[in-house]
Amino acid sequence: MNASHPLATDAVPARAETEGDLAPAGQRRPARRRVYIKAFGCQMNVHDGERMIDVLRPLGFEPAAAPEEADLVILNTCHIREKAAEKVYSELGRLRQLKTRRFRHTGRDMAIAVAGCVAQAEGEAMLKRAPVIDFIFGPQSIHRLPDLVTRLDAGERGMVETDFPAEDKFRALQENAAEAPRVPPSVFVAVQEGCDKFCTFCVVPYTRGAEYSRPAADIIAEVERLVSRGAREVTLIGQNVNAWHGEGPDGNVWSLARLMDRLAGIDALARIRFTTSHPNDMSDDLIAAFADNPKLMPYLHLPVQAGSDRILKRMNRRHTAADYLRIIEKVRKARPDIAISGDFIVGFPGETEEDFRQTLRLVEEVRYAQAFSFRYSPRPGTPAAEAADQVPEPVKAERLSRLQDVLFAQQEAFNAGFVGRRFAILLEKPGRHEGQLIGRSPWLQAVYVDAGDHRIGDLVEVEAIRATRNALAGRIVSSSVSK
Ligand code: SAH
Ligand code: SF4
Ligand code: F3S
Repeated sequence: MNASHPLATDAVPARAETEGDLAPAGQRRPARRRVYIKAFGCQMNVHDGERMIDVLRPLGFEPAAAPEEADLVILNTCHIREKAAEKVYSELGRLRQLKTRRFRHTGRDMAIAVAGCVAQAEGEAMLKRAPVIDFIFGPQSIHRLPDLVTRLDAGERGMVETDFPAEDKFRALQENAAEAPRVPPSVFVAVQEGCDKFCTFCVVPYTRGAEYSRPAADIIAEVERLVSRGAREVTLIGQNVNAWHGEGPDGNVWSLARLMDRLAGIDALARIRFTTSHPNDMSDDLIAAFADNPKLMPYLHLPVQAGSDRILKRMNRRHTAADYLRIIEKVRKARPDIAISGDFIVGFPGETEEDFRQTLRLVEEVRYAQAFSFRYSPRPGTPAAEAADQVPEPVKAERLSRLQDVLFAQQEAFNAGFVGRRFAILLEKPGRHEGQLIGRSPWLQAVYVDAGDHRIGDLVEVEAIRATRNALAGRIVSSSVSK
């Protein structure tokens, strides 16, 4: 699974630069401490982890490279499927041992906090099941983190902050943070949070709350700041990012397409992406942006979940399979080379073999560049979990493997079609071998190259020489291309 997907369930350490602490001149420099944030789940969690580091810097925290080195470990959790949620407890067990060992060897304590969607969903109950937890805070309470740490320093334990506060979390985060002086070439910017759609299988509307769109001026200022610190690509993120409709600087309500048009005017910004979108919010101006906005990359993650209208209805998706296919057709008309990606759930309650075959048919018709597929996992508090006609696990497993056979073959074919072609990649991180760097193509493929003199943050033109299901190998043919 690809770590850049909204549901990459492997833990990804939050990205942050390890620069010195940033106490304002003239103030006493706070004692240095290290924080390790382990993010599970979607890009929003990775993003939130970066913001946690930003708000902790003024208290003297720097990011730790590994949990062993950390004075504070924060698990930023995901509640989307049972497996994701349960992972937290095994992780807490491991941390408890680490904490004891660290204390024995160094005499230093390690505080443990739980954040994210499990924190929001389970709250206080987590403290009973895992008393090792020092404090808990939900996704809407990240800006309260400095206060929680201060209380911890004063000897308090067992704090739980899971309200949906009325104040603007994003504004508060912006005001209390000290961002790293340099940022990676590709960054996430949260423009929207929460969800009002209430698909019957999904916990997100309960863990993240109601849809909220940040004002355009705040987003533009943040992107300008990030670009001045080295970002060349931004991915605008939100649980339903294409439902974004923020107040524009002119007082009118702007659409996501209009916002991206404005962002494209920032010279040093080379690439724009957005994720995750809902089919019902794919407005015509957003589709047109794929043709008109030269910095918008040709990649669209548009989950459909299932190909049967009966199941889509029970999922409360409010669109049919034909609606979805029509949108894909329009998007392809605007941008013929676009890479389409999607999410699927198999074994939703009541799904018959015939329903499932309709999913396979839809997949054959769309031809995905990438896709993520899951067995339905009943989640507490969601309507579908109460349905009497749950599908047996072995049937789900068998369907998932049939679906993945088709999706993986499509992904492989998509990548194979690039061998011999030339395009730009943005170099983002070191590869496994000496001298190797990994960049992303416009279609979001990972591309491995021998970098020579080129560095992370450079945009270079490559020719693809080999393809696998998950990546391309390329050779650099010229440097410093503009997008
Ligand atoms: N907001 C996005 C995705 C949110 S969750 C959207 O509307 O598409 C990401 C994916 O997790 C979903 O697209 C769905 O495929 C999967 N998912 C969500 N709840 C699930 C559940 N209970 N069981 C299995 N997969 C689930
Ligand atoms: Fe969940 Fe549906 Fe909202 Fe996506 S649109 S976050 S699947 S409720
Ligand atoms: Fe998981 Fe919460 Fe994201 S449930 S997928 S971390 S919004």
